[in-house]
Amino acid sequence: MALRTCVFNAAGPKDVTLDELETIGKSRASAIVMKSCTLEPRQGNEEPRYSDVEKGSINSMGLPNLGYREYVKFADALKKHGKPVIASVSGLCTADNVEIIKSFNDSPVDAIELNLSCPNIKGKPQIGYDFAQMDEVLRETTKMCKKPIGVKLPPYFDFVHFEEAARILKKHNPAFITCINSIGNALVIDADKESTVIRPKGGFGGLGGAYIKPTALANARKFYELTGGKIPIVGVGGVFTGRDAFEFILAGATAVQIGTAFMQEGAGVFERVADELMLLLKTKGYDSLDDFRGKLKTC
Ligand code: SIN
Repeated sequence: MALRTCVFNAAGPKDVTLDELETIGKSRASAIVMKSCTLEPRQGNEEPRYSDVEKGSINSMGLPNLGYREYVKFADALKKHGKPVIASVSGLCTADNVEIIKSFNDSPVDAIELNLSCPNIKGKPQIGYDFAQMDEVLRETTKMCKKPIGVKLPPYFDFVHFEEAARILKKHNPAFITCINSIGNALVIDADKESTVIRPKGGFGGLGGAYIKPTALANARKFYELTGGKIPIVGVGGVFTGRDAFEFILAGATAVQIGTAFMQEGAGVFERVADELMLLLKTKGYDSLDDFRGKLKTC
């Protein structure tokens, strides 16, 4: 996929309705990622389910979405923006994912991001933490998907888990790896109110923003290393500035997505971050991202 800049939106924030997606389309985001969709429409979890917090955000949205059929239709409408449209698929089981992908196969979407990492579905563990299930869903979907299909992963924290995930990914060879989703089941407490800041799941939710950038960088770097740079990495987690984006590219990412900063700042964030990144390249004397991609030094 040709991208005008390496900066676009992460699946999740402000990408549920056609109006919201049009706003992303009109912005400088270099692609439009639609909300992770399920077979049937979902209301999602009870409110309040998102909160900005000191260094980022916490959410337990629970995949509120209009159902995949709407996003297949939206893809047609969004093509006029002249940038890639990416469907995010988060079926509640393998058969759902296959059915949803079949429909997107016959739609104008440019790529599919298979979300194996939503931490907010009550009673459903994240597939990315169940390696046997991850292997199965990738086996069933990568074969039948006619579009470039990437995988959105949860954060890993142990080298053994990075290695096992990379072994499975290399077996199925996705078109890209997006890391990371929010850090699941974090708890933010308001000491004044002596309360959690979101309601679902007793206040536990996915942490995003600046808190998670070091973990996101570690995941981008590790998967870049373990795949020998052969599978493009899309870095997400704590990108607020061009300098943050630069760090992800240095770690090995090909592109970056923005979640929390888009929620907080609105669609102007894509232009600001892309411009800041270009300015930083100029200051450093680089002509392109390829000049420094993956070339992180160890001190
Ligand atoms: C949600 O809708 O709960 C967030 C999506 C995700 O974390 O994948």
